[in-house]
Amino acid sequence: HVIGVDLGTSAVKLLLVNQQGEVTQEVSKSYPLFQEKVGYSEQNPNDWVEQTTAGITELLEGFDGNPEDIEGLSFSGQMHGLVLLDENNEVLRNAILWNDTRTTAECEEIYERVGKERLVNITKNIALEGFTLPKILWVKNHEPEVFRKAHAFVLPKDYVRLKLTGKLHMEYSDAAGTLLLNVSEKMWSKEICEILDINPEICPPLVGSHEEVGTITNRVAEVTGLSFSTRVFAGGADNACGAIGAGILADGKTMVSTGTSGVVLSYEASGDKDIGGKAHYFNHAAPEAFYTMGVTLAAGYSLSWFKDTFAKDISFNELLADVDTVPVGANGLLFTPYIVGERTPHVDANVRGSFIGMDGSHEMTHFVRAVIEGITFSLNESVEIFRENGKTIDTIVSIGGGAKSESWLQMQADIFNAKMVKMQSEQGPGMGAAMLAAYGCNWFNSLKDCADVFLKEGEVYEPIPENVEKYKELFAVYQEVYRKTNQLN
Ligand code: XUL
Repeated sequence: HVIGVDLGTSAVKLLLVNQQGEVTQEVSKSYPLFQEKVGYSEQNPNDWVEQTTAGITELLEGFDGNPEDIEGLSFSGQMHGLVLLDENNEVLRNAILWNDTRTTAECEEIYERVGKERLVNITKNIALEGFTLPKILWVKNHEPEVFRKAHAFVLPKDYVRLKLTGKLHMEYSDAAGTLLLNVSEKMWSKEICEILDINPEICPPLVGSHEEVGTITNRVAEVTGLSFSTRVFAGGADNACGAIGAGILADGKTMVSTGTSGVVLSYEASGDKDIGGKAHYFNHAAPEAFYTMGVTLAAGYSLSWFKDTFAKDISFNELLADVDTVPVGANGLLFTPYIVGERTPHVDANVRGSFIGMDGSHEMTHFVRAVIEGITFSLNESVEIFRENGKTIDTIVSIGGGAKSESWLQMQADIFNAKMVKMQSEQGPGMGAAMLAAYGCNWFNSLKDCADVFLKEGEVYEPIPENVEKYKELFAVYQEVYRKTNQLN
């Protein structure tokens, strides 16, 4: 067996997976999120460690094999969160998370001092409030006495791994989201550190996601019941691990994931394509690979907002049940899902959403259809960026909420003009983490071989040409709405 630890924003989920890729046990433990001020989002890194340890203990309690049969453990982690450590590797303050937006001024500072062109050349990415470097600068600017004591910084799952093994590392897929990594050369950028007066010594040693960093400490073995010989592998960023768990392991593979936010992610064999920062460009957790990624901030969140506001008493299934009774385009009703701003392609925290084209004949179902069409249009902006940059996208793996409804899957096929494939059983980033451990333990010669055994694709949804044509016209209108409404607030 191996354990996949998925350190999320609301909870840590742990999967115990056997050599056939079957999940034999699952545990989830939650921890609090602190939002002291508007835009602030923090967690206590020691809560992650405590709950991960408690989760492992629970997994072990329900496991009837020998502890030695659990050979390896690896991680998937929420990205970008800043954990600052002192010289004893203890946390200096709460972690500032990926969804914390206090750092607009620091993003501007990065552009002023580093320059946008140089930043994109080195890191392949633009400065976003969510990324780690602006958070480092925020602490430097606002809490200089804390910053002075900083000996190292790590990302959330690196901290948990540090406490489980005693070893300090960062791995490429998460380091890519810091804005301090030279993504194509897979090295920390001393140049950016120097320009911003950050001591490069605070950047920890880098390893590959499937590389072994050590074994668990005796203390953790005692507390959890794990064998002290359990091997620990570095793990990856949640989006990279989600991609591994969806089989995005070769050129031409793309996935769409609709959680609270939505992601379009496409495998890249090379780290030096130039997409000018139009989407995220990160190192994959698969060796020597990369991926491009576009993000819709409010994907599932738009639908849950709509349900909570207008249809509280019914389930999501009931909400979506009748959308096929309404024609493509919801009889002229159009929704833009910018209810918390938008990332790709607009990078605009201030724009707000809209319903456009309301008509006296529209009913609840038209609104529901318009909402999921709008979310899918937003994701299509990312698909289009990838195509404009030379990607052929004819098949897309769909995971998350959008893959649970047949109508939405068909709509994705029609809007993206691509075949949509569902997974037979979907386990998310925790499975990607388990696969990194399985590969690290040499159960397989490659992650692809592991995917052949662990992952099975399910139903396929083909685009319907007539709908594709209609959606092309509507997508052009959708894109126009941003240009016409972004100055309104
Ligand atoms: C990616 C991002 C989120 C986090 C969530 O850039 O900010 O998807 O990874 O954990």
